[in-house]
Amino acid sequence: MMKKKLVVGMLNTGKSGLEERLFSRVAKRKGVKLVMINLSKRFNEKEFEKEIAPCDVVYNNAGEEFVLEPLKAIEEYGKQVVDGSKLYYYTEDKWMCYVKCREHGIPTPKTTLLPSNLALAKAELREFGQWPVVLKRIYGMEGKFVEKADNLAEALAILRSIWAKDIDKLPFVAQEYIKSYAYRVTMIGGKIVQAVIKKSRHWKCTGVYSGDCEKFRVDKKLRALLGKVYRATRINICGIYLLKRGKEWLVLEVNTEPGLVFVRAEYEKLIGCIFDFILKTARKRKPKKSKKTVRIPVAQLHLRKIR
Ligand SMILES: Nc1ncnc2c1ncn2[C@@H]1O[C@H](COP(=O)(O)OP(=O)(O)OP(=O)(O)O)[C@@H](O)[C@H]1O
Ligand SMILES: [Mg+2]
Repeated sequence: MMKKKLVVGMLNTGKSGLEERLFSRVAKRKGVKLVMINLSKRFNEKEFEKEIAPCDVVYNNAGEEFVLEPLKAIEEYGKQVVDGSKLYYYTEDKWMCYVKCREHGIPTPKTTLLPSNLALAKAELREFGQWPVVLKRIYGMEGKFVEKADNLAEALAILRSIWAKDIDKLPFVAQEYIKSYAYRVTMIGGKIVQAVIKKSRHWKCTGVYSGDCEKFRVDKKLRALLGKVYRATRINICGIYLLKRGKEWLVLEVNTEPGLVFVRAEYEKLIGCIFDFILKTARKRKPKKSKKTVRIPVAQLHLRKIR
């Protein structure tokens, strides 16, 4: 009897670039049926459920915030996902990342949570006393809400200007500044699959560069540290950022949906590793009978605590 192909749904936002082509190509090679779920069109829940129904497992490959809502729905439908939505709200939160690292004995830059009231934030920054200081919104990517201030006046001007535009006044952390390149390790299912150095003339080594990043060797000590990070965060497909203070490694953050394109020659290999991981873990679980979703009144739902 022919073995049933694993059906993987990939949430994306309708781009049909190189990454999507590579995912399709690798899926074919690995014997996986890939269903691209485009979320940049109008959202219709019934249609969406139909699209999701044949999938054995769903992988989120879209960075947009909107995608988290459909992802949460998929989890409520009882489908297996590669990395759950909770990680985005909790483990990726820059304050929680610090707390988690500290609790697990993982070295990380000194960090403090700033009250959303400017006068209180001022008092906190003064007591924190780390100059220059890095100010970061608890959520953010591509360094968009990450700023460096040399003194208290500069720090307050930055917070004032950001909060003036943000009615929710999302919290910020203040973090000690470590002069370092950014070291980026991609881990899939707890295995190190790539380690690169991100260099920049700017103090922020963020984003994806036009050229390849230089690779670096992960020694025994760092390997042990990364193992600890994986066990503490449990993000299956992740990018771990580290800074270096002298010989000491400091974990900066752990990202879901990591960029895969830092070394072009390894782009396809990394996608292959993602499929290998999905194949390995999806088959471990008993296939669920595609159940008809039972609608439970919201009041009866045991809602996940996500914040
Ligand atoms: N405390 C720090 N000391 C020195 N450099 C820092 C510090 N925090 C951040 N940076 C620099 O700024 C970059 C972006 O910071 P961070 O990763 O916190 O922001 P982000 O918005 O999540 O970016 P990304 O999308 O690259 O993950 C880092 O890669 C690093 O180069
Ligand atoms: Mg990040």
